[in-house]
Amino acid sequence: MKVLVAGGTGFIGSTLCAELAERDHEVTALSRNPDDDRVPDGVETAMGDVSAFDSIAETVAAHDAVVNLVALSPLYQPPDDLDHETVHLRGTENLVRAAEDGGVDRFLQMSALGADPDGPTAYIRAKGRAERVVRDSSLDWTIVRPSVVFGDGGEFVGFTKTLTTPYLTGLPGGGTTRFQPIWVGDLAPMLADAAVDDAHVGEIYELGGPEVYTLADVTELVYESEGRSVTVLPIPMVLAKVGLTAIDPIPFVPFGTDQARSLEFDNTVADNDVAAFGVDVDELLTLRSYLETESGQ
Ligand SMILES: NC(=O)c1ccc[n+]([C@@H]2O[C@H](COP(=O)([O-])OP(=O)(O)OC[C@H]3O[C@@H](n4cnc5c(N)ncnc54)[C@H](OP(=O)(O)O)[C@@H]3O)[C@@H](O)[C@H]2O)c1
Repeated sequence: MKVLVAGGTGFIGSTLCAELAERDHEVTALSRNPDDDRVPDGVETAMGDVSAFDSIAETVAAHDAVVNLVALSPLYQPPDDLDHETVHLRGTENLVRAAEDGGVDRFLQMSALGADPDGPTAYIRAKGRAERVVRDSSLDWTIVRPSVVFGDGGEFVGFTKTLTTPYLTGLPGGGTTRFQPIWVGDLAPMLADAAVDDAHVGEIYELGGPEVYTLADVTELVYESEGRSVTVLPIPMVLAKVGLTAIDPIPFVPFGTDQARSLEFDNTVADNDVAAFGVDVDELLTLRSYLETESGQ
């Protein structure tokens, strides 16, 4: 199958492209600044901006399946010239329209847990509205909502370190927000199945890893893996929100109100749908094991 991975040069995209290429699909990674060094051998690259329909239409039409992995990170405040509506909603509208016009068979939409048109953050609202565009399309679609994804090149571990300091750190609400991290190496084969296997058409899957951690747990794991301890001091959520609201307009401070709001909601699955891919959740890599291996312990 000819598979176009929009956002295929990114963290999850490059692992997915490798998985699809290993399965002998003809894979193209599309992004604004594609760099051949960031995609695996055998994967083609194409330049396009999903927010500009004309820049992607022809490339999309040349494929049998499209995977939408284009991202604007929810962990940091977007730069002034970008927003979640443009990247996630308009980008999805353009990809869907190009796929419908071009007679593409399959469409896999990467969404996020909690995606909701009326949700609490711009990211979650744009993801929810983008899901609606996909569901209302004439395409054979599948939607995947993972919890946070970890692995080499991912930003979750680095983000935790940016938010905290070793030895003694304050965390909004004491870091009680819960996450269910899934390893990119476990997720990519499920995405590859979801992109090409007709058994997944019309399905919305919530995917999480084998263990649930609070943000405080993750902070401790990250510093422990570096041989450093950390004690978490709770910052009342109200104060954290006031602090983050105050820094909202400062461009070089990457956190804002949406980042504080996102810490008020757990990022865990209601039912883990990994079984839909024949996967036993207990066989998946835990964040704890990944961090121990990374640090050579
Ligand atoms: N990572 C996670 O923990 C996580 C969790 C849940 C859901 N997700 C979702 O999974 C998807 C992939 O995330 P990721 O972590 O792999 O993101 P990433 O590493 O930031 O990769 C983003 C990709 O999108 C491309 N891109 C950005 N803007 C674009 C545009 N306007 N037009 C075309 N390409 C564009 C980037 O390349 P250029 O910069 O060259 O354009 C890059 O290839 C996203 O939809 C994200 O919301 C991620």
